[in-house]
Amino acid sequence: MRINVNGKTKEMRAVWFEDGIVKLIDQRMLPAKFEIYEAKSTEDVAYAIKEMVVRGAPAIGITAAYGMAQAWLNKWDIEEVFEKLRNTRPTAHDLFFALKRMKEAIESGEDAVKKANEYAEDIIGRCEKIGEHGEKLIQNGYRILTHCNAGALAVGDWGTATAPIRKAHRKGKRIFVWVDETRPRLQGARLTAWEMVQEGIEHAVIADNAAGYFMRKGEVDMVIVGADRITANGDVANKIGTYEKAVVAHENGIPFYVAAPISTFDFSLNTGDEIPIEERREDEVLFCRECRIAPQESRARNPAFDVTPARYITGIITEKGIFKPDEIWKLERQAKS
Ligand code: MRU
Repeated sequence: MRINVNGKTKEMRAVWFEDGIVKLIDQRMLPAKFEIYEAKSTEDVAYAIKEMVVRGAPAIGITAAYGMAQAWLNKWDIEEVFEKLRNTRPTAHDLFFALKRMKEAIESGEDAVKKANEYAEDIIGRCEKIGEHGEKLIQNGYRILTHCNAGALAVGDWGTATAPIRKAHRKGKRIFVWVDETRPRLQGARLTAWEMVQEGIEHAVIADNAAGYFMRKGEVDMVIVGADRITANGDVANKIGTYEKAVVAHENGIPFYVAAPISTFDFSLNTGDEIPIEERREDEVLFCRECRIAPQESRARNPAFDVTPARYITGIITEKGIFKPDEIWKLERQAKS
């Protein structure tokens, strides 16, 4: 992705592997600070995933792949590293997809660094293809709403939900993006908006609870979101708040699209009810950065994801084309290979 840091334009990835170190753009700090986090051990890699130095399903998968490559390079116990990384975040399927592929490669004697680099390139390439397919859905003048950050930071480059947006913009289509702020971690306001600035795409950040207002006023032409896990029946787990956006879009006759590569599909689960939903620390809700916003006596609940039933989803944009939720079985063979 092309980014501007301190007046200098650079091409970089959200995650990469250099001199045995897993390097990550620290997504906790953006946009206030641009810092690189260096993971020198499996503990560092696990911490980066758990504490959301890196986040977004495909980027979590790529980070885990590099974590395995690092372990292989240092002759660490692969089984132990696999277990440690597996137990970081439970919802995004990409984590398990990447770890399984890396373990199989290591067991069959492959060069794990080469394999992890190939994995990253492959996923990023698939997301660019998502952009090529999804761009065709975007008409000149469209106002597109997105939730959370399913952008370049969440993949390495291109993004999933933002790939069609970036392709449409580069083709010269006039588009506008509504960016949900995405409480409690503000991935929309901090990260998606930052990416839109980097790409020069016109946008406005809105409070999460303003999405319905703009949809009802006829100011949203389509919704595109990412996914953390998609089950065999086409149900989709994504950032908390996605479900209500889908219901309100449906109520207002607005097309609701999900964009995801094959690594996010979990055909071992029949429905979204079987997806493990991460519940994070209550402090993320009770505080905004260091400032406590609720009374000392108040407790909070903090589910990080929700499930949108397939019936609210117009289509799923993949690297293989756009599918209705009840057509995704066609992708099952590829998810295994
Ligand atoms: O908790 P996060 O920030 O990891 O959640 C991210 C999302 O929900 C994204 O929409 C999803 O992972 C898709 S990223 C291309």
